[in-house]
This record gives sequence, C-alpha cells and structure tokens, in this order.
Amino acid sequence: MKASSLSGLWLSLCLAVFGVTALSGCSQTASKDHLYQQLGSTVGIEKIVDALLVEIENDPQIVHHFRDTDIARFRKLLIEQLCELSGGPCKYTGVSMQESHTGFKITQADFDNLVRHLMKVMTEQNISIAAQNQLLGLLAPMYGDVVYR
Ligand code: HEM
Repeated sequence: MKASSLSGLWLSLCLAVFGVTALSGCSQTASKDHLYQQLGSTVGIEKIVDALLVEIENDPQIVHHFRDTDIARFRKLLIEQLCELSGGPCKYTGVSMQESHTGFKITQADFDNLVRHLMKVMTEQNISIAAQNQLLGLLAPMYGDVVYR
C-alpha cells in the first residue's frame, strides 16, 4: 500500500474512533511520520539550518542577539530539535526554549523575521508549502517561550 493511502486510512480511523475534536491531533500524528522525510531527512534539515544561519548573519535586525552564541552548538541543537519535532530519529539535547531565550528580549518582529527566513530557505529547498505550514504549526506554540523574555 502506498504511504498516501496509509495516511488516508489513518485519518479515517481517527475520525471514526475519536471524532472530529481529535482530528487535528490525529492528522498531525499521521502526517508527522513523513514531515521529517518531506524536509529531506537529516541531510535536508542540516541544509535548512545552514541556510537559515546565513540569513540570520545577514539580518541586522536579529544578528545582534547571536553576538555571544556558540554557533556550532546552536546549529547542532536546532538540527536536533527540528529533526525530533518533525518525527525524525533524533533527540533534542538542549535546554528548554524558555530558558535559552530568557534575557535576550526577543521581539515579535524578531520572531516574524526568523519565521520569514525559515520560509524563504525552505522554499529555496523545494519544501512543499504544506510541509512548511506543518513545521511552522509545530513551532508556533513556542512563541510565548521565546518572545519578550
Ligand atoms: C520557534 C522559534 C525558535 C526556535 C525553535 C528556536 C530554537 C533554539 C534552540 C534549539 C536554541 C539552543 C538552545 C540551547 O542552547 O540549549 C536556541 C538558542 C537561541 N535562540 Fe532560538 N529559537 C527560536 C526563535 C528564536 C528567535 C526569534 C531568536 C531571535 C531572533 C532566537 C535567538 C536565539 C539565540 C540568541 C539563542 C542562543 C542563546 C545562547 O547563546 O545561549 N531564537 N534557539
């Protein structure tokens, strides 16, 4: 059976068993399995993060936040986090989003800039809009832990 029919089956099962209220959770579980693949697995995620680092470096609005950051460590942790979050075989080993962003006074505009850069690099790497939206949907709940801390 093709992966697409499998996820369709999973969605129907979710609907039948859990009803409409559980739909978003079910669809997330069903498609998360292949979000990691849609991002190009670990190699693709590494490419996304590397391109994102270049965007950050060239953005005068946000680059100052990273003045004292160990970029190699940040890169490794962001790859781990995106890999785990998208359903890949990684384990995030960094600290919580709240802890790592406290004291940086990151604004909503900074957050929006980072999201814009992320969307740009994913588009450049031919990641589908659906997969981009799915990843952004997984990152969105972190907003409150990152901004105005
Ligand atoms: C949902 C959005 C974001 C995610 C998923 C994210 C993810 C991460 C991760 C995984 C780390 C490493 C944590 C650790 O050190 O253990 C980190 C650190 C950091 N993030 Fe974010 N981040 C986000 C938004 C932002 C934004 C909008 C900014 C500023 C424009 C920012 C600036 C930083 C800085 C400066 C550090 C390094 C802190 C240090 O040097 O100790 N982050 N972030």
